[in-house]
Amino acid sequence: MSTPRGTETPAPSITSQARRKKERGQLGQPVRGASILGTGSYVPEKVLTNADLERLVETSDEWIVTRTGIRERRIAGEDEHTSQMAAAAGRRAIEMAGLDPLEIDMILVATVSPDMMFPCTACFVQKKLGAFNAACMDISAACSGFLYALEVARNFIAAGTHDYILVIGADKLSSLVDWTDRNTCVLFGDGAGAAVVGHREGKNGILQTVMGSDGRFSDILLMPGGGCRIPITKENIDQKLNTIKMSGKEVFKQAVIAMQAAALEVVERSGLRPEQISLLIPHQANSRIIDAIATRLKVPSERVFMNLERYGNTSAAAVAIALDEANRTGALKPDDYALLVVFGGGLTWAGTVLQW
Ligand code: ACO
Repeated sequence: MSTPRGTETPAPSITSQARRKKERGQLGQPVRGASILGTGSYVPEKVLTNADLERLVETSDEWIVTRTGIRERRIAGEDEHTSQMAAAAGRRAIEMAGLDPLEIDMILVATVSPDMMFPCTACFVQKKLGAFNAACMDISAACSGFLYALEVARNFIAAGTHDYILVIGADKLSSLVDWTDRNTCVLFGDGAGAAVVGHREGKNGILQTVMGSDGRFSDILLMPGGGCRIPITKENIDQKLNTIKMSGKEVFKQAVIAMQAAALEVVERSGLRPEQISLLIPHQANSRIIDAIATRLKVPSERVFMNLERYGNTSAAAVAIALDEANRTGALKPDDYALLVVFGGGLTWAGTVLQW
């Protein structure tokens, strides 16, 4: 890992953190395996193309496609909230798992665009699904949130305290974007993806996860306003502090470093070699970031799942929507090894290896 700006000690690498834990005997197999029993996703109907954006800000289809790979994105209606998209995706995942919503005993929603500051979006999802036996909470890890939530779910399943956990990544970043800022508004879209996690006899589908964060980079991708530090006032809104701010180049650089390290680490911890990975499902932010990771892992492009040209960066939803599409289109076959790797504001990152 590189040394972050303004710090004297280098950021600890994921590898060295994992090695120390291994030496202390803290890395072990879970008592009860956890698998993904069903997936689902939802994207809004409204399509916003690069041509539409050319009419909003000074940009071009050519610039957006060559710099990011994005051609269009979905935008939720004014009355279409994060919880509605999350519930639609969750319902599909529960159906695929063959469960009744009342069998779900926990709902985790990863999001940075909750319906409200509180209560948590997961409670709104619970109400919409009628999943009244579930404990509900949100997880905030920006674009990395879905894999963070998946790992939280895996641990509850491993502990044996919960049986069926609905994990959702959902974001409506169109409501947080400054639509006059061409540096950010071309990148994001709205949507939700979901997975039901539970124990499957004879199967340990979620093999390994690594997660990491570095708060020293908290200023390169953030929405400063809306919390207690910069509350919602007319002055703060006039200064657009309630919109996403990003140092694109720096985020790009750190994303490549962290995602490559997480990917290599989690593959190694799974006892696999990169060539055994049948499908790489990365965070859908930028095709150049994805190409850099695939090249480092030597995964050929036909084994990389991408849908960002259609949806843009849907934050916590991105990898979850991609997982559902890979599942439903048959890109994932039984016993295939899939590598999911994500990166987001915080900074946060994670990698997960699944055996399908
Ligand atoms: N259209 C046309 N020109 C643009 C646009 C646009 N939409 N946006 C920026 N430019 C201009 C810039 O103003 C700059 O012009 P200047 O040189 O006159 O100042 C020029 O294009 C080049 O800008 P760069 O920042 O050098 O472009 P870069 O090649 O770095 O690409 C990008 C920018 C696409 C944002 C890239 O840095 C990137 O993808 N970064 C990662 C972003 C990301 O993935 N964020 C999400 C992380 S996940 C999460 O938690 C939300």
